[in-house]
Amino acid sequence: MTVSRRVVLQTIGVGCVASACGGAGDGPPEGIATMCGADLCISIGENLELADVGGALLFVTKGHKVYVVRTTTGFSSVSAICTHAGCVIEWNGTTRFECPCHGSQFASDGIVMRGPAGRALRVYTNTLVGDTLTITLA
Ligand code: FES
Repeated sequence: MTVSRRVVLQTIGVGCVASACGGAGDGPPEGIATMCGADLCISIGENLELADVGGALLFVTKGHKVYVVRTTTGFSSVSAICTHAGCVIEWNGTTRFECPCHGSQFASDGIVMRGPAGRALRVYTNTLVGDTLTITLA
């Protein structure tokens, strides 16, 4: 991403932070998206990690951290915030989210697979039209 594009994305409240873009830095790889009204709009063509089953990216907006995972049936979009104590979860690359803080595990649809977390991740509604995946944030 060029600096000017990064600045534009940060100005509108969506984007990746410095070296975290594309997985080059610490933490989960972040995708590129834009706000479309109150929703988050993601171009699959600009986020090719989501083109293949098992691919996942983190999208950070003001007030939301949303993980999007490509599944065999479409896309799953869940909060990246662990329900145990608020750490940011990480996708294991194939089947589940893992929390680096205390070891909770969640399925791609947010269901708890292993505690200590006792509640599922928040699920965001998503809709794919053409190349654009829209995540309803409200
Ligand atoms: S914050 Fe995730 S398991 Fe504790």
